[in-house]
Amino acid sequence: MRILGIETSCDETGVAVYDSDRGLLAHCLYSQIDLHADYGGVVPELASRDHVRKIIPLLRELLAEAGSSLEDLDGVAYTAGPGLAGALMVGAVFGRTLAWSLGIPAVGVHHMEGHLLAPMLEENPPAFPFVALLVSGGHTQLMRVDGIGRYELLGESIDDAAGEAFDKVAKMMRLDYPGGPAVSRLAEQGDDSRFEFPRPMLDRPGLDFSFSGLKTAVLNALNNTADYPQKHADIAASFQAAAVDTLSRKCERALKETGVKRLVVAGGVSANKLLRAKLADMVQRHKAEVFYPALPFCTDNGAMIAFAGCQRLLAGEQQGLDIKVKPRWPMTELNPPARVQSE
Ligand code: KG4
Ligand code: ZN
Repeated sequence: MRILGIETSCDETGVAVYDSDRGLLAHCLYSQIDLHADYGGVVPELASRDHVRKIIPLLRELLAEAGSSLEDLDGVAYTAGPGLAGALMVGAVFGRTLAWSLGIPAVGVHHMEGHLLAPMLEENPPAFPFVALLVSGGHTQLMRVDGIGRYELLGESIDDAAGEAFDKVAKMMRLDYPGGPAVSRLAEQGDDSRFEFPRPMLDRPGLDFSFSGLKTAVLNALNNTADYPQKHADIAASFQAAAVDTLSRKCERALKETGVKRLVVAGGVSANKLLRAKLADMVQRHKAEVFYPALPFCTDNGAMIAFAGCQRLLAGEQQGLDIKVKPRWPMTELNPPARVQSE
């Protein structure tokens, strides 16, 4: 089965062709980072308009690269939520309509399910069950995953998401948007022991996270420390150490509590080098394994949507002719793939 995947939930237009026998055939991505950089964050209306501009040229480029034509497709998968309503609508209208015009099924995919399953595109995919840490700009969640669509929420952030904390800290230091890569680059030149930032919620039982106190501590350090040349780099390093330490220790706790020996980390923050190094140490201590998507598939992309959609279409699931998006859509509402026409 050959599936076109379309991702337009935020500031990246991503398309891909995934074949259930041959794997990923091609993927193309257009990032709107430059468009939003002047505003220090994503402007929803500009994002929607840019998806409209880019989606057809990107699809043409993709089909040429995949050596495929529209007639070779057996289904279309598009991100139906969560995300920005207008941006989601572009991919949903385009994907649903294209599938209708080709007479093939379509399926709306949950963006975070796409992230979660992205490590399965790799050569050594994780087997079920696994614990998943989903860390993106909008989500910080620990899940127990027993199969596709079988997700049990173990813990989540009660305030800011981890990626959001990186983005806000970057903004405080007037670094480039998106903040994650910029903060971690600056952190490489800093001393992470210079500032003692809080590791929120580690002293309490449970698997929830909180990052807003850490963010406030960073703001106080910025405002209340006399300037010196390394100040920003030291703050970035100390912040990153605190955020990564918190994520790693909660993953450790989740592995211990569930007795599961496989950890999957996905979403934009999973690209973070320090996080990967810490988790490598941690899983080694527990004789467990950690799995990541390839770097281009950590942040938003069409390949993860094509893959997740393919699993659901293979099981006979498909979307009716109505076009709906769900800007808010808890992942725990998902069910295993089944021969149903989803709402
Ligand atoms: O998954 P993603 O591309 O979009 C969402 O679904 O949110 O994640 C984007 C988030 C941003 O907050 C960005 O700052 C963060 O991932 N990020 C990073 C790194 N690369 C991206 N955070 C920390 N370190 C990185 N290397
Ligand atoms: Zn994402």
